[in-house]
Amino acid sequence: MDLGISGRSALVLGGSQGLGMACAQALAEAGVTVAVGGRDEDKARRAAKQIGGGAVAVPGDVSDSAARRSIVERARAALGPITILVTNAGGPPPGPVESHDETVWLAALQTNMLAAIDFARLVLPDMRDAGYGRIVNVTSFTVREPYPNMGVATGVRAGLTGAMRSLSHEVAADGITVNNLLPGLMDTGALERVYMAQAEKKGIPAQEAKSAMAESVPMRRLGRPADFGPACAFLCSVHAGYITGQNLTVDGGLSRPLL
Ligand SMILES: NC(=O)c1ccc[n+]([C@@H]2O[C@H](COP(=O)([O-])OP(=O)(O)OC[C@H]3O[C@@H](n4cnc5c(N)ncnc54)[C@H](OP(=O)(O)O)[C@@H]3O)[C@@H](O)[C@H]2O)c1
Repeated sequence: MDLGISGRSALVLGGSQGLGMACAQALAEAGVTVAVGGRDEDKARRAAKQIGGGAVAVPGDVSDSAARRSIVERARAALGPITILVTNAGGPPPGPVESHDETVWLAALQTNMLAAIDFARLVLPDMRDAGYGRIVNVTSFTVREPYPNMGVATGVRAGLTGAMRSLSHEVAADGITVNNLLPGLMDTGALERVYMAQAEKKGIPAQEAKSAMAESVPMRRLGRPADFGPACAFLCSVHAGYITGQNLTVDGGLSRPLL
């Protein structure tokens, strides 16, 4: 299916590996030129090369507001107006709520909530001028159903979900959609940190903790980047123009809300 976005420019934060890179690859396959974010410059450059289609690296730490402005300026200078934004970064550390002090919470708020809001504010003028905008935030299935030891991630992402729901109403008349994509247990970097922590807590091998996670999914497997990227590209497409303020869960049936 032609997604109708060929020739557009996208900024994909945390696009240098895992789920963000899967989004960047799917967008590039649809003819979109991508600016790839991530803290590690070399990794972002390698990812941009692999993604192809004229992709460029725009490294920087999204937890820093000056870096956020610089990332958008570099992306715009290289690719022109940014009309597709995918916000993503590494997740907060796992552990009981009680085990995390204010420093951890403030870092998570910056990285996983305020950064996404700031990036949206920075690219909205481009989207308004173009009469076309797609904002997709990578959040988590834990927003639908909290998961053990993921209280910080759930807390800050619930806040982001509220802010983005409000934003979706405010920009709807401008041809801009705002949606969240909720990964389940996906076989990428963030999950590795979670099952390593589980293995340590239970005193079992990491592989056993990982297999138990896969077994807990109704589809009896972990998700793959290829399960995720196409959903992101669809939400950025012309065909998703009447879908806004939504949360699309990609989790193999793991979370069980009625709606
Ligand atoms: N995988 C899962 O099962 C799962 C489930 C639920 C939610 N999620 C969430 O989905 C997101 C993506 O997951 P993933 O597994 O693809 O993560 P990942 O493999 O750890 O990749 C994270 C990406 O974000 C970049 N990044 C991390 N911190 C950053 C920062 N402060 N500033 C700029 N870039 C940053 C990383 O590059 P650098 O390291 O170079 O910065 C990398 O490109 C995470 O927030 C995760 O918590 C994942």
